[in-house]
Amino acid sequence: MFYAAKDPDGNDVFPIGPGGYESRWRFDRKGYERLVAEGYIFWKKRPRGDSEEWWPYVKTYLEGQTKRPSPLWDDLAGSKKASIDLRDLLGDSVFSNPKPADLIERILQILPESQKDFLVVDFFGGSGTTAHSVMALNAKDNGSRRFVVVQLPELLNPENKDQKFAADFCSKLGKPRNLAEITKERLRRVGKKLREANPMFAGDLGFRVFKLASSNIQAWSPDRNNLAETLEASVDHLKTDRTESDILFELLLKLGLDLTVPIEKKSIAGQDVHSIGAGTLIVCLSKIIAAKEVEALALGIAEWHKAQAPSGESTVVFRDSAFADDVAKTNLTAILQQHGLENVRSL
Ligand SMILES: C[S@@+](CC[C@H](N)C(=O)[O-])C[C@H]1O[C@@H](n2cnc3c(N)ncnc32)[C@H](O)[C@@H]1O
Repeated sequence: MFYAAKDPDGNDVFPIGPGGYESRWRFDRKGYERLVAEGYIFWKKRPRGDSEEWWPYVKTYLEGQTKRPSPLWDDLAGSKKASIDLRDLLGDSVFSNPKPADLIERILQILPESQKDFLVVDFFGGSGTTAHSVMALNAKDNGSRRFVVVQLPELLNPENKDQKFAADFCSKLGKPRNLAEITKERLRRVGKKLREANPMFAGDLGFRVFKLASSNIQAWSPDRNNLAETLEASVDHLKTDRTESDILFELLLKLGLDLTVPIEKKSIAGQDVHSIGAGTLIVCLSKIIAAKEVEALALGIAEWHKAQAPSGESTVVFRDSAFADDVAKTNLTAILQQHGLENVRSL
């Protein structure tokens, strides 16, 4: 932030404080040059000791004028109201001391008006107030802000008097008794309520739920005393207790795709095929692909891919152990490549 700015006479002016000490400008050089280019900088002579010196100033216009948010937010309701609102929404006092949703909304509004699509991360989600506020603000100003809310599945014990309401609430929902279930249920109800209250809002009021887990791909750990059995057990690299969507989202993570990309599912030649990001990634995790289905499956995938016409290269992924033999896999790959799907992989 310490650099020379050229005054109208072409001389270098440094940010030297009134006492002669080296100070700093408010903007870095790039920011200053942008302001100069946009005509926001003007120079004025100001007294310095017995003489005068050129000094730069920033123009501010009334139109689009932003003002520093007042530090006093006495117009917002406090935690008591927040607890009442949450009890009204969930029908029971299932979470003590939630933050007021309006407060979080106000914080989100401090950001420049123009930004309505940023990502908000709350590592201590609790009852989900942050996510609630993001959805509410989007419905209000047609924004597309997104949230990542992290909440431990803290167990709720019905024997514990402070947790009884919350535990019973989860039981009534038929859900496991943990805090994350409260968060999820709140967001389901908020989404529904906002949709009803804002029928014109076309934005997304949904959310996806993920849980941290070990990879779906079995690590190779041979039992030297039982190698044949280990080999047999590792024909399919994918853990048997995992679902297709578990594997699908690990693929998204590994391929650096956003976890909120749209995912479509279609049955092609009797196999479930997923298209992620409108055909950027096509995944078939079927456990068995018979040789006789290969052609119909490949042509069906190629046709679907063509219809989605994704920009850029697409990747097609299969389960390696699904193929009766390498011939079937090679045939399928060849047909896909004939239709421009060069990047065919198997897990
Ligand atoms: C003070 S509460 C947050 C309340 C929230 N702002 C609301 O309005 O509902 C903090 C929450 O963080 C959760 N938590 C604490 N440590 C955590 C961690 N390491 N990872 C995820 N959640 C955590 C706790 O379970 C608790 O629900």
